[in-house]
Amino acid sequence: MNSIVIAPSILSLDYSNVSAQLEILKESKAEWLHFDVMDGHFVPNLTFGPDILRGFKKACPLFMDVHLMVEDPETYAPIFIQNGADLVTFHTEALNNDLTRIKKLLDEIHGLGAKGGIVVKPNTAIEPFESVLQSCDLVLIMSVEPGFGGQKFMADMLKKVEWLKEKRESLNLSYRIEIDGGINLDTFRLALNAGCDTLVAGSYVFKNDIAKTIEGMLE
Ligand code: DX5
Ligand code: ZN
Repeated sequence: MNSIVIAPSILSLDYSNVSAQLEILKESKAEWLHFDVMDGHFVPNLTFGPDILRGFKKACPLFMDVHLMVEDPETYAPIFIQNGADLVTFHTEALNNDLTRIKKLLDEIHGLGAKGGIVVKPNTAIEPFESVLQSCDLVLIMSVEPGFGGQKFMADMLKKVEWLKEKRESLNLSYRIEIDGGINLDTFRLALNAGCDTLVAGSYVFKNDIAKTIEGMLE
């Protein structure tokens, strides 16, 4: 796996042209697909269930990065793993930021053979989660309010990325640092400089030439 990973968010895929777009993604330099699961409660939008993930995984064997924006990740993480998730991230807010529940769910995800990590919304600080970092394969920082593609990047969130990078070094850990929301070529560079190694991009990739846009970011 490259050190920098682009994870195109299929939230912005053209759903009138799925097979053709998946073929392009398969041949592109993207190594991951970012799969946004929204339940209409944790966020005011609805997206995909586990059957859709299974179909995507069958059609496109990229690494499936499943971002759960649901009220009940303890129920849904195992279900999405059974249906093709390689990595599951869940929001700390959905577990009332309870460190015991967070650690338990990360352990459960690992026990099921998948990778796991936490996500924080823009208004949630990252520092309180220091003690669970050692159980994370990845930490996802939201740089927009979760729920919709095409929003403006919140540059303030890069402070969380810098903190995560410092902690990874001082605690001698190896989690990836992912950012999600408002990524385009300019914000991509800012995020890389701050310490991100895994970058979700939705509208920027799918509103342009998919393969060229991904390649342009990795140049
Ligand atoms: C938003 C989702 C994102 C979304 C990003 O809640 O988590 O993954 O697809 O879209 P862009 O890149 O358009 O901001
Ligand atoms: Zn996402």
